[in-house]
Amino acid sequence: SATILAACTFGTASAADLVVGFSQIGSESGWRAAETTLTKQQAEQRGIDLKFADAQQKQENQIKAIRSFIAQGVNAILLAPVVATGWDEVLQEAKDAEIPVILLDRTVDANKDLYMTAVTSDLVHEGSVAGKWLVDTVAGKPCNVVELQGTTGSSPAIDRKKGFEQALSGHDNLKIVRSQTGDFTRTKGKEVMESFLKAEDGGKNICALYAHNDDMAVGAIQAIKEAGLKPGKDILVVSIDAVPDIFQAMAAGEANATVELTPNMAGPAFDALAAYLKDGKEPPKWIQTESKLYTQADDPMKVYEEKKGLGY
Ligand code: AHR
Repeated sequence: SATILAACTFGTASAADLVVGFSQIGSESGWRAAETTLTKQQAEQRGIDLKFADAQQKQENQIKAIRSFIAQGVNAILLAPVVATGWDEVLQEAKDAEIPVILLDRTVDANKDLYMTAVTSDLVHEGSVAGKWLVDTVAGKPCNVVELQGTTGSSPAIDRKKGFEQALSGHDNLKIVRSQTGDFTRTKGKEVMESFLKAEDGGKNICALYAHNDDMAVGAIQAIKEAGLKPGKDILVVSIDAVPDIFQAMAAGEANATVELTPNMAGPAFDALAAYLKDGKEPPKWIQTESKLYTQADDPMKVYEEKKGLGY
């Protein structure tokens, strides 16, 4: 329990006594893989024994993993929730077992008492940063937009859509003509973009693509090229994450803008946990990470090189 752990020197080698379970969604995107790498690195640096469970995109697997962490009596649980709903029961079980749960990168629709804190970006704001960039870039010209949504029912898919729509509201020159899930993957991003292009006169009716993550944008860029159009010029491309591959696409003029999401959610999570276990000090319910916009003007190849060393 927290009281017993208060006697440990958390953050040094003797913190090796700490066992933390991590229920990860899967490895749908480059960003997700980097988050996994960094979480393992951060745990190792702190001498934490990390129990890692890959849910292969399934909520039922995440629920099973959490129950197994509870049965093992871990000291804390990190959860990246694949969808927003359906967590109440298992979170209550963790609470009853006095195991603090920290949400990573996505939020849940559950009572805030059921988890200790959430380390996430402002997901609505990310969508509105992308939307504002598009509004400013098209500068009043008519523009049909297609949208590739993230995993259905996930908080980033819901919130990034909402924020983007908020930024476009009142700008009647911009219209979202098609919107469909690409499940945050490169393969589905490409597939769905192909269907958008077919349905919109080979792409001639499309002025911009908004993708809820970079991986879907990279897949869509391939589809645009195969349709004989120039991504980044004929069809503007704006997305979210800031993974290395999108900077290569930006350097080649094939993508236009991305909103950065740090894959290091575990660092702030472990810091909050350390403080809690040391003093019993509850962290705020939300530890917010930054959302920075990058465009082709930001020396994409330099950013690409910098990013490569950071878990990617
Ligand atoms: O929850 C964060 C999102 O999940 C990332 O933007 C996306 O790449 C990942 O799959």
